[in-house]
Amino acid sequence: MPDFFAPCPRGLEALLRTDLESMGAQNVRAIEGGVHFTGDWTLCYRANLESRVASRILWRVKETRYRSEQDVYKAVFELQWQRWFDVGNTIRVNTTAIRCPLKSLEFITLLVKDAVCDRFRAHCNERPSVDTLEPDVRIHVFIEDDNLMLYLDTSGDALFKRGVRSHTNIAPIRENLAAGILRMTGWQPGTPLLDPMCGSGTFLIEAAQMSLNIQPGIARRFAFEKLKNFDAAKWKQMREQAIAAQLPVKPLEIYGSDLYGDALKTASRNLQEAGLAECVQLKQANVLEITPPAEQGTLVANLPYGERMGELDELAELYPKLGDALKKKFGGWTAYLFTADKAILKLMRLSPSKRIPLFNGPIECRLLEYKIVAGSNRK
Ligand SMILES: C[S@@+](CC[C@H](N)C(=O)[O-])C[C@H]1O[C@@H](n2cnc3c(N)ncnc32)[C@H](O)[C@@H]1O
Repeated sequence: MPDFFAPCPRGLEALLRTDLESMGAQNVRAIEGGVHFTGDWTLCYRANLESRVASRILWRVKETRYRSEQDVYKAVFELQWQRWFDVGNTIRVNTTAIRCPLKSLEFITLLVKDAVCDRFRAHCNERPSVDTLEPDVRIHVFIEDDNLMLYLDTSGDALFKRGVRSHTNIAPIRENLAAGILRMTGWQPGTPLLDPMCGSGTFLIEAAQMSLNIQPGIARRFAFEKLKNFDAAKWKQMREQAIAAQLPVKPLEIYGSDLYGDALKTASRNLQEAGLAECVQLKQANVLEITPPAEQGTLVANLPYGERMGELDELAELYPKLGDALKKKFGGWTAYLFTADKAILKLMRLSPSKRIPLFNGPIECRLLEYKIVAGSNRK
């Protein structure tokens, strides 16, 4: 059975492990930054189609010890790449390493590319071309100490790209991180959800899709479709079943607001592109002035972050007012604020009931849970 590795945002590994197990994955092992598992190709297609949290599904084609650059070349050249994809496919090699004793990762990338091309040349006298922007086949090289792992990427574009054209404003959160945060909040489809700082609407779209059983990968293509072992009939059947299981688009108790009209325009366009405009109510409002759209529910927000001095001052002013506004008006709600800014803990004047560490790329963040009970909880 093939071995796979699914990278994901750090902090979401346990969630991804549970999802993969429920899809039937075996030998599931979470490590920092992702989950190893084994399974058949149907599982691989399914994980690509259904996982909201994984960043990619990588198929491990080789794991070996190495000492020198020559060992790396040899390990790559020995593999029968022509069995997996056609010489007419374009390729790209990505190398990442932890504690790599070799001098240059760029050199390793070139070496691996050369070894793959040389293997094809030995086989058919032709070599695949490189396309770094939109390759058909991505080869990932992972080096950890003296361990070399080679992967073929079955996803292609990263899985947080849901295949629907999306317009962004300054600081959108990645879709798979947003979906993971929603899952961490325990929010259940069918119950009220509010993002009062919705920006381009990432939480809203993920939540609407979750409510309507729309699989995150239903609108996109995958790299596994280009591999020689691609089972088109199986994939067609899986897609058809997923489409048949979707619920009809209808108004949902999902609400978004933002201070800026431009942000709302972006959110509205993105919801429209996703065919979900009907599901979400959008409003232009200051988070400090909104009234809750229901008696209880889940509030989730990815707080603005300040990089320049003035912005930091603005945020320092916002936090205590936000704490007061939540306490005054949102009794009965649970608020989840996602931020990298530790200053919030002192300035909010509310004590979080949970602090969940999560990474936004390399940036360490916290998902803070506040159970709002009107008039209490003040430090
Ligand atoms: C980090 S962004 C949110 C990004 C969003 N999660 C997305 O994926 O696009 C923070 C948002 O807070 C909004 N914002 C800032 N101050 C606000 C306020 N006082 N009331 C409401 N929204 C505010 C900004 O316009 C921005 O869109």
